[in-house]
Amino acid sequence: MNSSYYIELEEKYGAHNYHPLPVVISKARGCEMWDVEGKKYYDFLSGYSAVNQGHCHSKIIEALINQASNLTLTSRAFYNDKLGEYEKYITTLLGFDKMLPMNTGAEAVETGIKLARRWAYTKKGIQENRAKIIVCAENFHGRTSTIVSFSTDPSAYNKFGPYMPGFEVIPFNDLNALKEKLQDSHVAAFLFEPIQGEAGIILPDNGYLASVRSMCSATNVLMIADEIQTGLCRTGKMMACDHENVKPDILLLGKALSGGTMPISAVLANDEVMLTIHPGEHGSTFGGNPLASVVAIAALKVLVDEQMAENADKMGKLFRDKLSSIKSKYIKEVRGIGLMNAIEIIHHNPNAAWNLCETFMQNGLLAKPTHGDKIRLTPPLMINERQINEAVEIIEESLPVLESL
Ligand SMILES: Cc1ncc(COP(=O)(O)O)c(C=O)c1O
Repeated sequence: MNSSYYIELEEKYGAHNYHPLPVVISKARGCEMWDVEGKKYYDFLSGYSAVNQGHCHSKIIEALINQASNLTLTSRAFYNDKLGEYEKYITTLLGFDKMLPMNTGAEAVETGIKLARRWAYTKKGIQENRAKIIVCAENFHGRTSTIVSFSTDPSAYNKFGPYMPGFEVIPFNDLNALKEKLQDSHVAAFLFEPIQGEAGIILPDNGYLASVRSMCSATNVLMIADEIQTGLCRTGKMMACDHENVKPDILLLGKALSGGTMPISAVLANDEVMLTIHPGEHGSTFGGNPLASVVAIAALKVLVDEQMAENADKMGKLFRDKLSSIKSKYIKEVRGIGLMNAIEIIHHNPNAAWNLCETFMQNGLLAKPTHGDKIRLTPPLMINERQINEAVEIIEESLPVLESL
């Protein structure tokens, strides 16, 4: 069966809620993928940063297979012999009292919102149903009906109302706007991405994270860092917040927590926040299952043992240096940190970035535009110098397609 067979199958029987590049992948290892025709590509999306450790990392797959043949799911109606070990490992590694396990990133965000509201009513003393959460314009925190209620992207929220109240939007990277909002005693939390991923790798100014931390502390407002995309070594540190040595009150993780094998997310907080939720008040059938617990420990150990933060930092610098030296009037900006990078295209044709990604694909590299003109370039973190050089060559040789559009 060739690619068009699989594409037509999805088109006919699947919901049309995605617009993929016309490539059908059937195998992947490390930072390489192969399509059903056997053509090889560099993966410069990494499952939206879920595959930081590289595709099918042997240690993660081994842990998954061993545990899958022994015990996969108990539900939380019973204890299992893996969850506690996972909770101990991740809280010790990241420096929090407790962890609450969920599955998808959006569920972690929902959990963070519920924790913040519960804390606001039971600890901060905000009048019930009056808590506010401050969020940033151009945010991306997932797709649930609550989360899209505070999205500023019409394609995320249009005609999905009525919307959940209790959120107020300020511009990203705007400390004055945050300061003003924090004067309001009904504010429970500030929920934000340390670097906005979906928006096109938008980095805040130096000092932003540290200022957010001190402003939230000064006003008794919870700092909720959504590190679902930025965390787990993607930016060259274990967490993006580590670049400014700050710790949020609530840390949201997902994606690479499983090395891309299954949906695993986690919410970390200290007791004052986490213990405001009691038995029966929140949970998920699959959250904290023994299979996920074992896989998450393996995925975290790979990141630490194989020094993926250091490699992301080193390869990221090399990548940006090489990209920046490409002479093209169509590249407006190369930006990023670690291996979370993007190029912004300037072109009269609104489909230019999409066409360029199609040419990358023809030349053996897979990446996807976000918000029209930005191309996110986020390979697995074990990529090496030779592979970076080859990828940059592919990007460079593809750019002339923009002349003909
Ligand atoms: C920062 C951030 N938060 C939350 C999510 C949602 O995660 P999921 O798609 O697993 O629900 C994403 C997904 O891209 C994300 O980038």
